[in-house]
Amino acid sequence: MIKACIFDLDGVIVDTARFHYIAWKRLANMLGFEFTEHDNERLKGVSRMDSLEILLSVGNITNLTHEKKLEYADMKNKWYVEYISTLTPADILPGAIEILEFLKSHNIKTAIGSASKNAMSILQGLKLEHAFDTIVDGTRIAKAKPDPQVFLTGAYDLKVSPGQCVVFEDAEAGIEAAIRGGMKCIGIGSPVQLGKADIVVPSLDKLNFDIVLSLDSITKQ
Ligand code: BG6
Ligand code: MG
Repeated sequence: MIKACIFDLDGVIVDTARFHYIAWKRLANMLGFEFTEHDNERLKGVSRMDSLEILLSVGNITNLTHEKKLEYADMKNKWYVEYISTLTPADILPGAIEILEFLKSHNIKTAIGSASKNAMSILQGLKLEHAFDTIVDGTRIAKAKPDPQVFLTGAYDLKVSPGQCVVFEDAEAGIEAAIRGGMKCIGIGSPVQLGKADIVVPSLDKLNFDIVLSLDSITKQ
């Protein structure tokens, strides 16, 4: 029996990818190269410093000191924080509130499992800071997805075993993390990228919520 659902934040509950994109693009432009939306796809679910490494490789920028890299990541984050300060409950993605209500009415616990160090301010902007039983974010974990640490910490907080958890993810690295953690997972997005998930839907509002409850007894074909 499924006892808990763990939600990735960026791309599942709210679309912050566009803010990450404009902030990273601003940094790329400042460093003298272009950064496209296609390039940005590679950053989804990836930690801040790993994202910077990908961005620098797009611009063929090598030999930066660690201090310089931290300075650039910090600069990008300041811009990003400015952009996300505009978030309101109207930015919550369709289906998110409905599934949280559904899970609550079925006594299923909920968690956020996000790589972001900004998760708390995003949730505050959305007025969802009290909507989950626990929040595991980038400030609490050392290992980035695809390591399962973020989701296992969520299961630990909720006192449930990994096999009783369902993860909701929009990034390939997140699906991999759920699988490595021994959890069921629902991909939100395209089956091309998220094919390893137990179920893939284009968005939360397209999901048949009842399936979530019995996902532990469904074997992937
Ligand atoms: C993930 C995003 O949720 O958080 C990534 O999908 C982002 O794009 C990562 O790089 C880290 O976020 P932050 O807010 O700590 O820079
Ligand atoms: Mg995500």
